[in-house]
Amino acid sequence: MDEKISELKKIISTSDQIVAFTGAGFSAESGISTFRGAGGLWSKYDPDIYANINVFMQDSTYYWNFFKDERYPVIKKAKPNDGHYVLVELEKLGKLYRVVTQNIDGLHQEAGNSDVIELHGNTRKINCLSCGKNYTMDETYKKLQKEIPPKCSCGGNLKTGTVLFGEPLPQVALEMAKLAAQNCDLFLVLGSSLVVYPAASMPRIAKKNGANLVIINIDPTPMDEMADIVINDSASKVLSAIINGG
Ligand code: APR
Repeated sequence: MDEKISELKKIISTSDQIVAFTGAGFSAESGISTFRGAGGLWSKYDPDIYANINVFMQDSTYYWNFFKDERYPVIKKAKPNDGHYVLVELEKLGKLYRVVTQNIDGLHQEAGNSDVIELHGNTRKINCLSCGKNYTMDETYKKLQKEIPPKCSCGGNLKTGTVLFGEPLPQVALEMAKLAAQNCDLFLVLGSSLVVYPAASMPRIAKKNGANLVIINIDPTPMDEMADIVINDSASKVLSAIINGG
């Protein structure tokens, strides 16, 4: 492990266009469950029912119960962890090009990163599908105590800014993420199983364009073979060891 840490330190010291690509494992230490693997959300909730756009458009009560019982309570109290603050440090050092995240919790921005691309949207941004009116998570949670699904004052249906399965990714975010992968010198995967596309295509784009690829993930991923360094450990622990010599 120490050898890999010093190898990673060397790569970071010579990189100044770093892309941090984060997944649910990066927010796990902020108390937010991951989706796959032991104790993952999808072992408790079938994503084809609770996180699918076609089901949502027919009957959104599944999604809203999931939001009310599972997502809101956890995301509401979640705080950025040490890993988030190391990325802010890298930004201050002028080494971080962009954060590209699959996470919908807004914790990178809360920690202080200024350039965050949200590939799968943001659950704190809630809109009416009819009139476009914005609602906060708290306002929506309050509505959910009285009615499921929650309705807008115009009578329209609300939806969180989270990209559900079967829904296209936000085009601008996808294009910007591809550009970041093409133009980085280090692509740092932090806490992602790398099985959901098109997000999981980014490491290959970065590698093909000559970047170093480093994967820090507790479990093995399908991209480990193509990586320059793989560290199967806590992302925030490894990042803290890099920056603080912890
Ligand atoms: N540090 C590093 N890795 C961790 C940690 C940690 N503290 N905790 C868990 N992991 C790893 C697990 O080993 C797992 O492989 O994080 C990975 C999380 O994988 P997933 O749960 O599949 O999350 P993610 O890759 O972000 O999923 C992609 O799938 O369900 C959809 O839209 C959802 O954005 C999500 C997408």
